[in-house]
Amino acid sequence: MDHFTLRDGVLHCEDVPLPAIAAAVGTPVYVYSSATMVRHAHVFSQALASTGDPLIAFAVKANPNGAVLATLAREGLGADVVSIGEYRRAIAAGIPPERIVFSGVGKTADEMATALKGGLLQFNLESVVEAEMMSGVATDLGLTAPVAFRVNPDVDARTHKKISTGGALSKFGVPISDAREAYAAARALPNLAVQGVAVHIGSQLTDLAPLDAAFEKVGALIHELREDGHVIRFADLGGGLGVPYDRDVPLPPGPEEYGAMVTRITADWDVRLIFEPGRLIVANAGVLLSEVVRVKPGVGDPFVVVDAAMNDLMRPSLYDAYHAIDPVTPHGGKMKANVVGPVCESGDTFATGRRMGAVEAGDLVVFRTAGAYAATMASTYNSRPLTPEVMVAGDKFSVIRERQDIAVLIAADKLPEWLR
Ligand code: LLP
Repeated sequence: MDHFTLRDGVLHCEDVPLPAIAAAVGTPVYVYSSATMVRHAHVFSQALASTGDPLIAFAVKANPNGAVLATLAREGLGADVVSIGEYRRAIAAGIPPERIVFSGVGKTADEMATALKGGLLQFNLESVVEAEMMSGVATDLGLTAPVAFRVNPDVDARTHKKISTGGALSKFGVPISDAREAYAAARALPNLAVQGVAVHIGSQLTDLAPLDAAFEKVGALIHELREDGHVIRFADLGGGLGVPYDRDVPLPPGPEEYGAMVTRITADWDVRLIFEPGRLIVANAGVLLSEVVRVKPGVGDPFVVVDAAMNDLMRPSLYDAYHAIDPVTPHGGKMKANVVGPVCESGDTFATGRRMGAVEAGDLVVFRTAGAYAATMASTYNSRPLTPEVMVAGDKFSVIRERQDIAVLIAADKLPEWLR
């Protein structure tokens, strides 16, 4: 459920009519509903509450805006970070270090050192060579690094191949068949405190079966590791639960179903569970608000040319992702159209042959489900400045990231001395 609703024929975010935001901030602009984020955080936490005292560590990569992180921090969420930049954002937003886990396949020694000094709950290591580097960094600092291994359970997540991470040939994690050896190797290294197991098999999962299979394997591994004498206190079950994007496809399993599955599988694990949801918390809390520049007739369907482009919202061109597109003030008519941005690439296409509410030049449209992996994946391709972000709370709204000034982009380039 989200808080984007039609009132008197005008799409609102909570109590704010979207045209008011377009008038104040311009378009394109990302608009987030804080009530929706808070609700999703609450629903997810409730669904897992029967597993004890789980840590819900929001996957910062989904939406790293400081206001988003601060909103979730107030709800008691922690953070799953994959770079020192994300770590610093989480700390800056008020997320306590003991609620931060550090994932990622390429942590550098500098990143390890900074996070170790600043404090965190655990590093999720992805290989023995990484454990060796971590041990060296911790030893140099005279500190002990709390670690888990991310294991790769070799299950097919049945999602888009670019966001599937749990197959044996993927770059992620220690193959589960090698896990006991990896834990034995880590135990022999100085200044590491091995304390847990982590797993994450992919994103936008719309079927619980692969998660179920992966978690069963993790449960068996925890049992074996304890037999080997390791103290396993944490199990990080990653993120990945899918969200509805397309109203015409069946709803993915929700947090309650997921929670029931997790509760059943982990009942005798005797660990503190960690979860790393990203998309589930923020995706449906955001829209990309854009204005129709013109409607260009085509040989086939007309082209609705909007002022947002692939650089603002990459998901359609990168993953063939579906985002519902709706007029902000629907007139009742329907059209079948290709919705495209102004960037000079045919990949700058948001939808092909889409049946949608009719729009004309000057109308506002929203791309729905744009709170996750959207603003954060934007680029300045075609010298288009980064899109601003606005957060709504009730009848208030606030710009939480300014529109980038083109002058700032230009000034960042430096002429070499021989061209001056
Ligand atoms: N934990 C780890 C270790 C991850 O790699 C990810 C996502 C998550 C948690 C959060 O997954 P979520 O709950 O959001 O599914 N840009 C792509 C998604 C990439 C996901 C990468 N990892 C997209 O737009 O679909």
